[in-house]
Amino acid sequence: MKKTMNKKDQASQNLILKISNLHKRYNEGKSNEVHALRGVELTVKKGDMMAIMGSSGCGKTTLLNMIGFLDRRSAGDIIIDGVDTSTLSDGQMTAFRRDNIGFIFQLFNLFSFLTAVENVETPLLLKGVNSGLAREQAKMMLRELGMEDRLYHLPTELSGGQQQRVAVARALINQPAIILGDEPTGDLDSTTSYDIMELFRRINKINQQTLVLVTHNRWIAEKCDYIVHMTDGKISGIEDLPLIRDEK
Ligand SMILES: Nc1ncnc2c1ncn2[C@@H]1O[C@H](COP(=O)(O)OP(=O)(O)OP(=O)(O)O)[C@@H](O)[C@H]1O
Ligand SMILES: [Mg+2]
Repeated sequence: MKKTMNKKDQASQNLILKISNLHKRYNEGKSNEVHALRGVELTVKKGDMMAIMGSSGCGKTTLLNMIGFLDRRSAGDIIIDGVDTSTLSDGQMTAFRRDNIGFIFQLFNLFSFLTAVENVETPLLLKGVNSGLAREQAKMMLRELGMEDRLYHLPTELSGGQQQRVAVARALINQPAIILGDEPTGDLDSTTSYDIMELFRRINKINQQTLVLVTHNRWIAEKCDYIVHMTDGKISGIEDLPLIRDEK
């Protein structure tokens, strides 16, 4: 029997992320409780490239941490690619995160005892890619980011901006369905920031990877399809950027 699909089904199939009534309270029940997320509602379509903006302390990093399961939510639902993440065990969550989500956060968390190229190839090795291929792909990605002459340096031998580029390469190498960036170009000069945004745009177009980027920088945000504005732990508005989207 032919299965017919209504519009609603089609729309929901195309969603990579659906967040409903998400709350996060830090120090729950204590006198210093902070209600950081207060009922976030957000849907993101596969292949969207979005920026999150909002004043300091409004909950942007907290929201990314919830999406990436780096911290527990207090209440609410997060559905990623049709999977209700509240049903996953800790072990399943770790595997799901490894296979589906790439992180580019301000604290680079590079392995200090591994060279740049070793840091970048690690996610591939963890996935079981053979070491020769993993090394080739890691080198290619670092070359793309202008790091070809720093492949065998340790993080301590690299500048802040170079370390950040290694972190970007490591997040992208796996081709995760969702890439979460917290000020991913924060410490970089404007030329490098431009190159990285171009790279994001390219992988977004070619691989249909979804990018969720927190930024304070309006110029960076305008490279995305739309801007989600946050105020006091909630989404306060969505600003479409039609000109950029038409270029896609
Ligand atoms: N581990 C924590 N314990 C207690 N409160 C926290 C913790 N982390 C964040 N907060 C509080 O939660 C609120 C949201 O913080 P969050 O880091 O998400 O803000 P942000 O929008 O990312 O800000 P910024 O732009 O400065 O990075 C803030 O009031 C912050 O003080
Ligand atoms: Mg933050």
